[in-house]
Amino acid sequence: MKALVFKGPGQKSWQEAPKPTLQSPTDAIIKMHKTTICGTDLHILKGDVPEVTAGRILGHEGVGIVEETGGAVSNIKPGDHVLISCISSCGKCDYCKKGMYSHCSNGGWILGHLIDGTQAEYVRTPFADTSLYKIPPGMDEEALVMLSDILPTGFECGVLNGKVSPGDTIAIIGAGPVGLAALLTAQFYTPGEIIMIDLDDNRLEVARRFGATRTINSSREPVIERINELTGNKGVDCAIEAVGVPATFELCQSIIAPGGHIANIGVHGKSVTLHLETLWAQNITITTRLVDTVTTPMLLKTVAAGKLDPLALITHRFKLSEIIQAYEVFGHADREKALKVILTNE
Ligand SMILES: NC(=O)c1ccc[n+]([C@@H]2O[C@H](COP(=O)([O-])OP(=O)(O)OC[C@H]3O[C@@H](n4cnc5c(N)ncnc54)[C@H](O)[C@@H]3O)[C@@H](O)[C@H]2O)c1
Ligand SMILES: [Zn+2]
Ligand SMILES: [Zn+2]
Repeated sequence: MKALVFKGPGQKSWQEAPKPTLQSPTDAIIKMHKTTICGTDLHILKGDVPEVTAGRILGHEGVGIVEETGGAVSNIKPGDHVLISCISSCGKCDYCKKGMYSHCSNGGWILGHLIDGTQAEYVRTPFADTSLYKIPPGMDEEALVMLSDILPTGFECGVLNGKVSPGDTIAIIGAGPVGLAALLTAQFYTPGEIIMIDLDDNRLEVARRFGATRTINSSREPVIERINELTGNKGVDCAIEAVGVPATFELCQSIIAPGGHIANIGVHGKSVTLHLETLWAQNITITTRLVDTVTTPMLLKTVAAGKLDPLALITHRFKLSEIIQAYEVFGHADREKALKVILTNE
């Protein structure tokens, strides 16, 4: 089969790779239909995720058809049309029993990280019964690719941890695919104002189309002053950080109202100053989370019911065999006005 293979920092290749085989009775082999590229794949290619070794097939998102299952798989059978979660969960360890699949002692985020991933013609998925989701007939496959990672991430780490409530004024910092997923799913709870903050006018324009009530370009506008004007100097009830740099986490601390929630989503590589000298008396909470994908079944239902339209996040489409070109476009997202790209295994 063909696959996108990581060859060490800065290097990748679309090349022949051995077709995966069952390694454990709980595995399944999936023929990929659609996959995508994540910002995390770009981090891996830069060399920011050193556990990913040369020779690894990348990718942790996608949908496909089950080709083969191990003897212990009972819920999924060959021929099933499935959504692959970016998190593999055994369903049996202490963390899985608490619903914290991201910290599964036997899995977690391993696809395209510690084991071969989904940017390939076939993938082996561990713990098939608890890590694959059957796709109801008639659902749009491309929309569902957004449910492998982006939507549960924005929803669980941002909206649920940020306790978004009816009437709230919320701010989302970062209008990339993850921040936009938080924007789409925050609207389940009818916040009063959704303020989207980014440096990129195109992404802010997309955010307005997706339901942001206000946008602030922080490269041009004084964000704290604007938020103070908008909130009568109170600040926001919820600040969702979807960038992953010190400046944006510090911004969350400057705009949070008393009693508010700062929900961090961004992957941070540098330490950030915590301003307890101003926040200690403000009754705020700060949360962090690695996406668990526990809300995937619920998100599937909202897509099926037409309450959530993840297709809006897709800007570009390629054949899987054109993946190098797709990386080029996704890697220059600002120039190309790219959000998510879809790769189809034809
Ligand atoms: N916690 C998790 O489980 C989890 C899962 C997936 C992704 N992530 C992280 O979520 C974050 C967002 O992911 P993404 O794919 O949307 O990334 P992205 O890079 O596509 O988007 C980030 C956005 O932030 C904007 N930005 C950059 N610097 C800024 C600044 N100083 N002020 C305002 N905006 C700024 C950029 O213009 C861009 O639109 C990343 O850090 C990613 O690694 C976390
Ligand atoms: Zn991802
Ligand atoms: Zn587990």
